[in-house]
Amino acid sequence: MQKLIVVGGKRLRGSINISGSKNATLPILAASILSKKKVIIENIPLVKDVETMIDLLLLLGSKIKLDRKRKKIEILNNNKLNTFVPYKLVKTMRAGILVLGPLLARYNKAKVSLPGGCAIGSRPVDLHLAALRKMGVNFKIRDGYINAITKNGLIGNKITFPKISVGATENTILAACLAKGKTILSNCACEPEIKDLIRFLIKMGCKIKWVGKRIIEINGITNPKSLSYRVMFDRIEAGTYMIASAVTGGQIKINNIDPKIIKNEILVMKKMGVLIIVKSKSIMVRSSKYIKKVNLKTSPYPGFPTDLQAQIMVLMCGANGVSKIKENIFENRFMHIPELNRMGAKIIIKGNQAIIQGKKKLHGAELMATDLRASVSLVLAALSSKSKTIINRVYHLDRGYENIEKKLSNCGAQIKRIE
Ligand code: UD1
Repeated sequence: MQKLIVVGGKRLRGSINISGSKNATLPILAASILSKKKVIIENIPLVKDVETMIDLLLLLGSKIKLDRKRKKIEILNNNKLNTFVPYKLVKTMRAGILVLGPLLARYNKAKVSLPGGCAIGSRPVDLHLAALRKMGVNFKIRDGYINAITKNGLIGNKITFPKISVGATENTILAACLAKGKTILSNCACEPEIKDLIRFLIKMGCKIKWVGKRIIEINGITNPKSLSYRVMFDRIEAGTYMIASAVTGGQIKINNIDPKIIKNEILVMKKMGVLIIVKSKSIMVRSSKYIKKVNLKTSPYPGFPTDLQAQIMVLMCGANGVSKIKENIFENRFMHIPELNRMGAKIIIKGNQAIIQGKKKLHGAELMATDLRASVSLVLAALSSKSKTIINRVYHLDRGYENIEKKLSNCGAQIKRIE
């Protein structure tokens, strides 16, 4: 199994080009199922989750041309697709569930494996199913599979999500695009990746509009068009490298982004004393000697993202006092904490709150990566320390970070992968 060896203590300097967004690419790939015409998607990140979604589409029968060099994919779904998604393609990547809505929209039936547990919590799909049920879908859960069928096709309805969910909002939008009549979705997630998905769908000819901050209106259509679309930048990757600069006393220019989308993260880091110069498509992030403590809570967009919680915690370890983070989205997303404590951090967990003692100098250790964002927080901690760290199970990192070793070593980091 591959490991990462990181020798910390280097001030990172240089520039990093941010890749396309993983969390926008996944639902957009699922959305390609809606059209029988050619779909071209550009700026896709070649990370493991995206590869898994491509494998899933291939298994369904999509005709795919992937140009790895240009990060461009062409998909043609003009044939009859399978409607069965096996466990092996959903167990490592929950986003596989996002094909449920499009398959139902096109074929009125689908059999998709239940995603099952996940390291960061139970992560159910009840909200997805409840919304689709309101559009006329009958579900039978048997042997770990969701058997979905709609006798008279999907029918538009008024649906209010009881809780904000990114995936449930996406799945229901995708189903509603080809449903009969009008669907109004309330209490939707409004993450930038959902806005990106909607821009893609509008370009495909779907009739969708935001009619309130968390309200979306969709009028079903019958014949989606061919289109070419460029996916937005990965805001979590951008945030991660901002923190990499801050924790190493570095100076990194982060390119290919829209700073407006991450203005909350920029604000939090400025509040902590990090120096940030904002341009129209890039930012310069310069560390400061005095990182200030801060209290944070994770919440749906535009709040602070749960996907950056583990990374910002590493910056808090070097702050001038006690910082606190409340994790409001996932129930078990503190698995990086025992590993950070093994590196000399002093973090205690009280329920869904982490209390982080500042002024801690981290040292290297042999560590275990547990999930995608926890793994990258260990890389950041290793870069900020003065010695050598070995990180096991790095496959978690490959699910969401494209060329991470190359991007960091181009800025002077000493990081390599070994078998
Ligand atoms: C997406 C992102 C993930 C991010 C998360 C929250 C993708 C591919 N993944 O995950 O990186 O961390 O949003 O920003 O875009 N829930 C239910 N029932 C459901 C669905 C969700 O109870 O049917 C709960 C979850 O357990 C969690 C909360 O709702 O506590 C939010 O989850 P959700 O927004 O659905 O996350 P994902 O779409 O899985």
